Amino acid sequence: MNKHEYLGIDVGASGIKGGIVDIKKGELITERFRLPTPNPAKPAAVAKVFNELVQHFEWKGKIIGCGFPSIIKKGVAHTAANIDQEWVGTNAEQLLSNATGCPVVVRNDADVAGIAEMKLGIGKDYQQDTVLIVTIGSGLGSALFTNGELVPNTEFGHFYLKGHNRIVEQFASDRVRKNRNLSWKNWALRFNKYLKMVEKLISPDLIILGGGSSKRFEKFEKYLTVEVPVKPAILLNKAGIIGAALHAKSMEKKIKKSFEPADN
Ligand code: BGC
Repeated sequence: MNKHEYLGIDVGASGIKGGIVDIKKGELITERFRLPTPNPAKPAAVAKVFNELVQHFEWKGKIIGCGFPSIIKKGVAHTAANIDQEWVGTNAEQLLSNATGCPVVVRNDADVAGIAEMKLGIGKDYQQDTVLIVTIGSGLGSALFTNGELVPNTEFGHFYLKGHNRIVEQFASDRVRKNRNLSWKNWALRFNKYLKMVEKLISPDLIILGGGSSKRFEKFEKYLTVEVPVKPAILLNKAGIIGAALHAKSMEKKIKKSFEPADN
């Protein structure tokens, strides 16, 4: 394993995906490998599948980065919108480190995807601006950057549009499009309402769309009427894995330190 190689894993509501990333080149150097998320997605069951992925890559000892669909503070999950409620209060870093025998660092999935897009994707040219990355999948994830700095754990998929009695990700996510069999147009009209509200609330200079649906941008671009430019992510659905690997690299020194014996 060369020193620029890091394993990134993206835990999602329906799949757990991983790959080895050369963070110097900013690209995956293995095939992306995916296993279905267990149902129910309880911590012990997810940790088992997570370890299967790690074994698949024959990864040993070196730090692993993980994106996780929840508010994450100091490694602990604080919410569970699209995974099992048992995650709330679980120290995901400890659990996954114990399961794999490698140090694992965990952050919100949209935040890590955003980190990748800002460093290696379109965001590169918007370092002095306010940029919002929205990931469209089972939920609506968000990552907010201002002057290149992440404001972690924003949950812009969790507000209510006027007159609605469910949060906006239950109205305009990709899961809703598929479950309700919405045409691209009908889904896009919903998603556009969401973008308009986001534009009103935070006035970003750019919105980048990630997640599975970003690959189909040409199907719905014409229905978006916000003034702010909206662009599909360059890294598409690899952003989560690449961002997790970048996060692992950024935490490596700190983690090593916390394992060193203290000087007395
Ligand atoms: C979660 C977010 C997550 C998003 C995308 C939402 O339901 O609350 O934390 O980023 O889904 O997975």
